[in-house]
Amino acid sequence: MEIAVTVGDISQFEADAIIVTLFEGAEYLSGELAAIDVALDGSISRLVTQGEIKGKLGENTLIYALAKLPAARVVVAGLGKETELTQDKVRGVVAGTCRMLRDKNVKSIATVAQGAGANGITYETIAQAIVEGAILGLYTFRRHITKEPEHGEVEQLTIVEADQSNITALEEGLRKGEVLAGATILARDMVNEPSNYMTPTDMVREASKVAEDYGLAVEVLEKEQMEELGMGALLGVAQGSHQPPKFIILRYKGRDAEEIDITLVGKAITFDSGGISLKPSANMGDMKGDMSGGAAVIATMAAIAQLKPAINVMAVIPATENLPGGNALKPADILTSMEGKTIEIISTDAEGRLILADALGYARKHGTKRIVDVATLTGACVVALGTVTTGVFGNHQELVGQVIAAGAEAGEKMWQMPIFDEYKEQNKSTVADIKNTGGRNAGAITAALFVGEFAGDTPWVHLDIAGTNMIDKTRKYEVKGATGVPVRTLVNLVVSLAGK
Ligand code: BES
Ligand code: MN
Ligand code: ZN
Repeated sequence: MEIAVTVGDISQFEADAIIVTLFEGAEYLSGELAAIDVALDGSISRLVTQGEIKGKLGENTLIYALAKLPAARVVVAGLGKETELTQDKVRGVVAGTCRMLRDKNVKSIATVAQGAGANGITYETIAQAIVEGAILGLYTFRRHITKEPEHGEVEQLTIVEADQSNITALEEGLRKGEVLAGATILARDMVNEPSNYMTPTDMVREASKVAEDYGLAVEVLEKEQMEELGMGALLGVAQGSHQPPKFIILRYKGRDAEEIDITLVGKAITFDSGGISLKPSANMGDMKGDMSGGAAVIATMAAIAQLKPAINVMAVIPATENLPGGNALKPADILTSMEGKTIEIISTDAEGRLILADALGYARKHGTKRIVDVATLTGACVVALGTVTTGVFGNHQELVGQVIAAGAEAGEKMWQMPIFDEYKEQNKSTVADIKNTGGRNAGAITAALFVGEFAGDTPWVHLDIAGTNMIDKTRKYEVKGATGVPVRTLVNLVVSLAGK
């Protein structure tokens, strides 16, 4: 989809459809809407008077222009109450309208800068929200479908703005939106692939492509190197699979110093069967998405390399399958992590925290000022927060706050969970330093505390995305399947840390 900003009068713009907006309870039609209303012989004002158009959030009224305008169709999109407008509502509205128009085979869409200026929202922010809403909302994953889709694709989206002085801001927002949404759909594509198309080796290919395309350093540790480094926890998980494990490192250097300002760690279990502690077969296929953390981190690096913030970032992605087999890890086995802690295995299905243990060990060995890890870690987090909210855990309140703020800006909902010391009791082992599950109670918290053991005193935040990485029903600008959460949060976080 080609996206552009242009100066002009949208009522005179030629497109398959133009989108104009109305706030709920608006007393009169805005400039553009009034001009279009006149051209359409007052049909819009009549529909408003009749109560058909109310301006409610998400309301779409499609009107055929019947040659009275250069455009074939007009959509009046409701933005809800003006005082309650947010950039995230704009993302959702644009996604819904664009999908409705795509279903009608619309190829070119023009829109006003929806709601810009209202509620203190800038033109730049609005352009970014429009672009993200359109790209993310129109996303489809059809790589393995050989038959033609029922509808075409939207080819052109144009933001039409009357006032020349707003154009630079709109263009800036457009560019940011394209980078952020582009990275998000890169993550979605990886997560939507089934595990036979997204093995650890395939993840290496994806990371290498990002490194190549955007100029990042990439390094991949093979099993032998992991052995040399003593990554016993990761290797324990990998030993049941025929796919070789891969330990992927990406580096972005945005400022002239050796220090690593932040390390992003992403869990990449390319399929989680549970191992010997086998999962029930119903919905096991969802576990193709157990590499969502790794995918998000790789995609985030792609965006960072394009936005070029002045900060040094390392990404660490431990990648392996978790399968049962003659050589697989077994309950009661004891593993030794890279930094020497011994781990009693209670359940081979609590594998994410094991690979994270060695990934955090690696990050700390290389010296990093902060760590943020992203993982589809626990079913307990899904029980607690559903598919709406990502669980946030951390040992450093300032960093926790920065992550949550970055999430709010992205429209990716986050909520902090407690990690009080009392919960550590549940992770105590009588035969090793720690055990890999802490029982049913507070399962997301004890998992986070396990990971936190390997963060030591490095400022650290853990994001449990087990509920938010995939959805089974389209919701605003997230379509059924992979969501690409929390790519935009991570990018915002890194950019904001660089600004400090
Ligand atoms: N990958 C799963 C967590 C998960 C569950 C992700 C549902 C997405 C949706 C993780 O490896 C796992 O199996 N966790 C176990 C831990 C338990 C054995 C302590 C769980 O949550 O059941
Ligand atoms: Mn598991
Ligand atoms: Zn898992």
